[in-house]
Amino acid sequence: MKIEAIFNKIFQTAQHCGYLVYVVGGYVRDLLLHKTGKDIDFVVVGDAMEFADRLKKDLHLRSLVRYPRFGTFMTHYYGYTLEFVHARRESYQRDSRKPVTEQADLYSDLSRRDFTINTLAMDISPQNFGKIIDRYHGQEDLKHKIIRTPLEPSRTFSDDPLRMMRAIRFAATLQFKIDPETFRAIGENHERLKIISQERISDEFNKILMADRPSLGLRMLDETGLLNIFLPEMNVMKGVEQRKKYHHKDVFYHTLEVIDNVAERGAGLNLRLAALFHDIGKPRTKRFDEKAGWTFHGHEVVGERMTGKILHRMKYPAETIHYVQKLVNLHLRPMALVNEQVTDSAIRRLIFSAGDEIDDLMSLCRADITSKDSRKVKKYLGNYDRVVDKIAQVEERDRLRNFQPPVNGNEIMQLFHLKPGPVVGKIKRYIEEAILNGQVANEHDACLQLVLDHKEELLKE
Ligand code: CTP
Repeated sequence: MKIEAIFNKIFQTAQHCGYLVYVVGGYVRDLLLHKTGKDIDFVVVGDAMEFADRLKKDLHLRSLVRYPRFGTFMTHYYGYTLEFVHARRESYQRDSRKPVTEQADLYSDLSRRDFTINTLAMDISPQNFGKIIDRYHGQEDLKHKIIRTPLEPSRTFSDDPLRMMRAIRFAATLQFKIDPETFRAIGENHERLKIISQERISDEFNKILMADRPSLGLRMLDETGLLNIFLPEMNVMKGVEQRKKYHHKDVFYHTLEVIDNVAERGAGLNLRLAALFHDIGKPRTKRFDEKAGWTFHGHEVVGERMTGKILHRMKYPAETIHYVQKLVNLHLRPMALVNEQVTDSAIRRLIFSAGDEIDDLMSLCRADITSKDSRKVKKYLGNYDRVVDKIAQVEERDRLRNFQPPVNGNEIMQLFHLKPGPVVGKIKRYIEEAILNGQVANEHDACLQLVLDHKEELLKE
């Protein structure tokens, strides 16, 4: 069904109830940016719950979810997600995110929205179909690519402090500028982000990371002080120190470049997070060595631990945490393999450790090259090309990427009449090591023969 027809049906229902209904927010904004979405927000000037009952009947909707406390409901229709809210004058208690909503007219509703570009409403009556209602010069701000609050910014942000992150998200994803007064207000109010739940913060943060150039948003988060509220570990990455003739790269700005590099190659969220965290352990491991200059020994291990703690605190899912920790830990390994004389065994160990993440790991390593010297960049990239070739060769021969022991625990137990226990684990590790060392092929019969040949030493306590 065409969207115009859907709008028309919704309008007819509103008319039966004696209400007015408009399309608002992101859908109208995106339409004017020549993008069409599947999520459509409506504002109902009237009782949204009564409207919900009527709409359910008129459109023969199978399901419709109501949130009476908030005066909202949502439903799915012909592939669209439709969300309705009654026009409201919203106020929030200072220390809580629970809104107290009262019914209001369209204009007060629009005034309590976050940014002028999101205050645009569209008339869907047959007489004025498509007419844009623009109380706060949203179209002009769209044209000039500006994010600005419709009211005095501190008031808009105190209604919902998460909007400070949303401002940066829209600026980063749409590549808009934040109006200076609005930007200043974010700096002044940044501490208020503390009342927002971590889940909501991380959700916005992910959207900022998914921008074409995440560094744009990360810089703004840093400049306004917001980043320091939920990710203070990034703050200490800033700064360069010079001692004698040695200075080290500013880790913060290097990290921003690495994220932009992975983003440019279309990385998903997890790889972007790995780019964000790959050097997080550097500030804690920074030492000055009289001969070698600055060193960061063990930063991948410290970083892996820090990554686990931070991502857990930020409420990321366990698989994401596991993935990011793995890449942080392994990010220096391919560099150690660029040498011509590197053995197959070393390559095999990397494939074994990285598993399915080997391709992402190589993408991270390439993105980590941020030298401004194009000859060096070429050379380092060439080195990684060689590592990738070697990985492909060893991979093809040994199929180690999703390593499954060719002789499993049950078989070992049956063979030697063992009960489950440490000896079984020892034998499995023995097989694994032999494969990685190149002593035996990654095949069932060869591995079985190997354990039989070494039966005595393996069964010794
Ligand atoms: N809104 C707001 N304050 C918020 C969240 C939302 O004022 N903290 C309003 C805005 O008018 C916004 C509309 O509610 O346009 C819908 O919110 P949402 O779906 O979160 O954002 P969209 O603008 O639709 O953008 P996107 O779908 O890209 O998140």
